[in-house]
Amino acid sequence: MDATPLNEAAVRDALRGVVDPELGDNIVDLGMVDDVKIGPGGEVVVRVALTTPSCPLRGQIKAEVMARAGALAGVSAVDVVTSSMGPEQKAALMAKARWKASQRAPKTTVPARARVLAVSSGKGGVGKSSVSVNLAAGLAARGYTVGVLDADIAGFSVPRMLGVSGQLEATRDPDDPERKLIQPLVRPIGAGELRIVSMGFLAGEDDAVMWRGLMLNRALQHFLEEVAWGDVDYLIVDMPPGTGDIQMGLARMLPSAEVLVVTTPGQTAQKVAARAATMARKSYLRIVGVVENMSAFRCSHGETYELFGHGGGLRLAGEINAPLLASIPLEPAVARGGDSGEPAALDQDSEAGKAFSNLVAAIIERCPVVQMTSCSARVLEALGALERTTVPVAPAS
Ligand SMILES: Nc1ncnc2c1ncn2[C@@H]1O[C@H](COP(=O)(O)OP(=O)(O)OP(=O)(O)O)[C@@H](O)[C@H]1O
Ligand SMILES: [Mg+2]
Repeated sequence: MDATPLNEAAVRDALRGVVDPELGDNIVDLGMVDDVKIGPGGEVVVRVALTTPSCPLRGQIKAEVMARAGALAGVSAVDVVTSSMGPEQKAALMAKARWKASQRAPKTTVPARARVLAVSSGKGGVGKSSVSVNLAAGLAARGYTVGVLDADIAGFSVPRMLGVSGQLEATRDPDDPERKLIQPLVRPIGAGELRIVSMGFLAGEDDAVMWRGLMLNRALQHFLEEVAWGDVDYLIVDMPPGTGDIQMGLARMLPSAEVLVVTTPGQTAQKVAARAATMARKSYLRIVGVVENMSAFRCSHGETYELFGHGGGLRLAGEINAPLLASIPLEPAVARGGDSGEPAALDQDSEAGKAFSNLVAAIIERCPVVQMTSCSARVLEALGALERTTVPVAPAS
């Protein structure tokens, strides 16, 4: 016989057994159980808020809530009512999921203060790599140290777009001679620099090809755990097309990463929005904003041509409740820059160069980094160093 009285707390306790498999936590702690009502005859009504009305897990969560609540002594019937969350509730849920994930995240060589931006899209060929390299180059031109991780393992394009070639080499970690670290290839730009890692730097030599085969399915992990990124301010991750394993891997290893969604002006907003929302939900990453690429082309006579449609960036931004950060025109300078290795962002005479400057400024404003030259940062650093070197002293008795 079960002596536990049937009340709201007992039902909530039972519902702690219902785990949202994508967010990896139970629906009560995630704040998804809005309300529990118990009728005089033991009829239980549970209101569950889902992140999207079309949540693919709706049926599964509903069935589990019915099973868990239905198993409690005194329950005669269970009804589950689902609703979708408002923006604030969704933001709170994601913040909770992110925090939980950060508790489980493995150690990486990416410094904690670096802002990690994953450049993604719901579709291939929209300009993720072009936006990644131009954003990275633009940030470096403003004096930042920027890591560039080409996460498009099979279809890498970053080396060509940044005009960098060579082989990655591993050297001994000065802090741990047992360990080897991969040195990124460096390209100085203005007062800053790019530190670049790509599968493209592993192809070529026999050894490298073998290494490449071994690394393929764990490449992202290697790039996040074994690259000597050093003190980068930003890490720009050029994501492969699609929303699969790489995105999940990145979210698991760097839960603080933020997503920049690239779209074209003509894309059906709902479709891309649904994919972007699903991707963010699955990986609980924050979306920083939307970049519209291949926007209206202005010819030298001043006429504009909307070759790829109109308004897709704004529509998507509205749908996923994120700001539109910049619209990059369709301009030969972007493609040429990609082929020559001189990103258009470095050419302020081009319309695209100016548009990329707007994007860089928006990122600096919305994703500021703590400058180590600031007084408080230096004090923190000094304290950290002191903690590492001083021997603890027993308190005076
Ligand atoms: N604003 C632009 N103006 C002109 N050409 C562009 C622009 N943006 C991208 N391109 C060109 O379009 C092509 C696709 O761009 P890019 O490789 O950046 O897309 P992607 O989303 O990374 O593609 P994938 O999904 O294959 O990784 C490239 O040849 C690039 O030079
Ligand atoms: Mg690409």
